[in-house]
Amino acid sequence: MGSISTGSPVGISGIGRIGKLLAWVLSARKEQKEIVISTGRGTGKRIEDLATYLAWDSTYGKYARFVHGYRTDSAIEIIDGSVYMNGVRVIWLNDPKHRVPGTIPWSEHGVELVFDTTGKMLDPAANDDNSLRGHLNHARKVVLTAPFKAKNKGTPVPDDSVTVVGGVNFDRYDPERHRIVSNASCTTNCVAPPIKALVDHFGERFISYSLTTVHAVTNSQSVLDVLPKDGDSDTRKRRSILNNMIPTSTGAANAVIEVVPEIRDLGIGSQASSIRVPTSTGSIVILDISLMGEYDNAHIHDIFRTYSEKNPGIMKFSTEQLVSSDVIGSTYSTIYDSLFTHRRTSKRGEQYYTMVDLNFWYDNEFGYVNSLMRLYDRMCGRA
Ligand SMILES: NC(=O)c1ccc[n+]([C@@H]2O[C@H](COP(=O)([O-])OP(=O)(O)OC[C@H]3O[C@@H](n4cnc5c(N)ncnc54)[C@H](OP(=O)(O)O)[C@@H]3O)[C@@H](O)[C@H]2O)c1
Repeated sequence: MGSISTGSPVGISGIGRIGKLLAWVLSARKEQKEIVISTGRGTGKRIEDLATYLAWDSTYGKYARFVHGYRTDSAIEIIDGSVYMNGVRVIWLNDPKHRVPGTIPWSEHGVELVFDTTGKMLDPAANDDNSLRGHLNHARKVVLTAPFKAKNKGTPVPDDSVTVVGGVNFDRYDPERHRIVSNASCTTNCVAPPIKALVDHFGERFISYSLTTVHAVTNSQSVLDVLPKDGDSDTRKRRSILNNMIPTSTGAANAVIEVVPEIRDLGIGSQASSIRVPTSTGSIVILDISLMGEYDNAHIHDIFRTYSEKNPGIMKFSTEQLVSSDVIGSTYSTIYDSLFTHRRTSKRGEQYYTMVDLNFWYDNEFGYVNSLMRLYDRMCGRA
């Protein structure tokens, strides 16, 4: 099995928010001559429509500026019917049969590794053409840009599949064994690193935590109110994101335990919730922790200062008064807002307890795509 060959064309299934930004970053790095994008359908009426979609972005601005700075007019060309991004050729698979992972001819184009960014195929145990595993008919490995979700609750994760988060459990990825890799969610990438740092530092003195992500909008939400689908359990998801803060469920509590199993082993209590808000990207996790003992802010800061020094690129230790737009374009998985830490100590009998309110920013789109690149480097045997 082994590592992915550096320079082999990368496959991307689906070019929504995550897939498109992945194409941006890969083509900016320019390690491959080709990127293979599968949409399984046409886009607009002409190849120029695909080029325009890739060239402009309502959140991040112009691709040319992203790649070359503000002086450049264009970094996207069409040559002989193919789109080129920064000189990297896009091989576009737009036939309806390319909608089904098992029938996408990845290997014909030299693709070894596919990023499935469709959000539609989440079960690593499913084993038919129209599943995540289907990609393995014609590629060596697949990365899921979301947490695994078994169709039949309780189905164990197969032996060749693993969930990893940079700065937390990258060492669990075994290049000889693992073919299906989940990079977890953006929220898990934001919150698992600090929780891992806290667990390692406090051990049994860490009693419990509760996290809330105040999360930017995604395309799974409605612009205006729509009729809930038959069987929808979370009907708030069908409410207008233009007009509302929308409480919604998140799988982050389980996902964090998956990558930091010490939480279960030590019996640390945990809970997670999410509120979607009308910003295009840029999110924050509010992490409230409960500790046995008396600790001041300096003690807490030291934990994250040390962690961020040991894990450069993953956590940033911020001493700035940030708001959400400041983190748009951040490549970090998580940004510790050291100026917004609040703590209070109480005493019961002879025992002291400290509650701390911690805050971690993340660009849920761009920060996440950069976490994918760290995983990619790992899978190429470089990190
Ligand atoms: N947005 C974030 O902040 C974020 C962060 C981390 C992880 N994620 C995860 O990443 C995944 C994608 O999120 P996203 O925000 O990029 O979603 P998105 O903008 O809705 O993009 C998904 C894309 O996949 C395409 N697609 C669906 N089924 C397909 C198929 N069978 N073959 C090819 N293309 C297909 C969709 O196009 P059609 O119109 O053709 O269906 C759409 O363009 C989700 O699992 C999400 O949870 C998202």
